[in-house]
Amino acid sequence: MTTPPPFTVDPNVGPATQDYLDEALANPGFGQHFTDHMVVIDWNRAHGWHDAVVRGYAPITLDPAAMVLHYGQAIFEGLKAYRQPDGTIASFRPEANAERFRASARRIAMPELPDELFLASLSELLAVDSRWVPAGGGESSLYLRPFLFSTERGLGVRPAGEYRYLLIASPAGSYFTGGLKPVTVWLSTEYVRAAPGGTGAAKFAGNYAASLVAQAQAAEQGCDQVVWLDAVERKWVEEMGGMNLFFVLGSGADARVVTPELSGSLLPGITRDSLLQLAKDFGLGVEERKFSTEEWRDKAASGELTEVFACGTAAVITPVGHVKHDGGEFSVSGGATGEITMKLRDHLTGIQQGRVEDPHGWMTKL
Ligand code: PLP
Ligand code: COI
Repeated sequence: MTTPPPFTVDPNVGPATQDYLDEALANPGFGQHFTDHMVVIDWNRAHGWHDAVVRGYAPITLDPAAMVLHYGQAIFEGLKAYRQPDGTIASFRPEANAERFRASARRIAMPELPDELFLASLSELLAVDSRWVPAGGGESSLYLRPFLFSTERGLGVRPAGEYRYLLIASPAGSYFTGGLKPVTVWLSTEYVRAAPGGTGAAKFAGNYAASLVAQAQAAEQGCDQVVWLDAVERKWVEEMGGMNLFFVLGSGADARVVTPELSGSLLPGITRDSLLQLAKDFGLGVEERKFSTEEWRDKAASGELTEVFACGTAAVITPVGHVKHDGGEFSVSGGATGEITMKLRDHLTGIQQGRVEDPHGWMTKL
């Protein structure tokens, strides 16, 4: 499909009252409130992508034998729209999300949504729901959630022949209820998130379902998040539940950032990729390599490891202060938030909010 189908807009939508909207924007939380509209685009073998429509946000009906309910073909993306100082709305590297959405689709044997249609769906939704984008100058934004799932009815195990793409949006404040407080993490050695050759590099719903029991275990241990290790040796750090990880070694002129290399089983985060670039721009050393739990523990003890943080669209940059595992626990730099963590965070959010220059052309007007 080369020319995206035009979108129709359903006029029969009762928008949220101003009171409801004011309340949602004052206390957005994460994923609690949804905008007035959603985008729907269907795919089938005969027609490809068709019937693109912006319609009122509402429940959808599915056949009980819809294949997604049985065999789980479902992928998603997550990106944000930010109010700029001049009142316009821009998003951060949406082209990268479009590309990753196609990569996820390929891995789960689903049709690839063309990038131009993915990007058009964002603009079409924002055109009718712009009042849901929080005011600029703060950390709030409008979280955009594109997703794709199989709708064909049937119980044969095979790639479905019918799919539905939906885009919904939700005002977002801080992902963690504690705000910017350093989080405590649990090193998961019992459960793994993804194995070599598996689906870990895709934004596939099943990866998140597989993570929930370990997340519950982390909560039982008094931790905020799980850190996933490699499936084979249970030794190499991969990532967190919805975030990639960075380690800062050394300080001052010797400081360098290390992040686990893309192993094939962790998600290639767009924030991760952007921070590698910003760290280089700041003159910091940058290493993408394997990082073990022993290195984490030993260098935290020796003081060479000065900061640890997690990053992702929803979580932005969140400091990691304390680590618990089966055999004990330890802190990094007394559990305090580090200087480089804050410098990268301020710069990244500055670009997103239009406060600082965007030399890499990462912001796209919607
Ligand atoms: N890792 C996982 C498992 C995620 O779900 C996410 C969130 O999208 C990330 C990492 C961070 O990716 P990004 O920076 O593209 O949001
Ligand atoms: C995101 O950061 O967009 C995520 O998808 C993380 C989580 C909410 C699943």
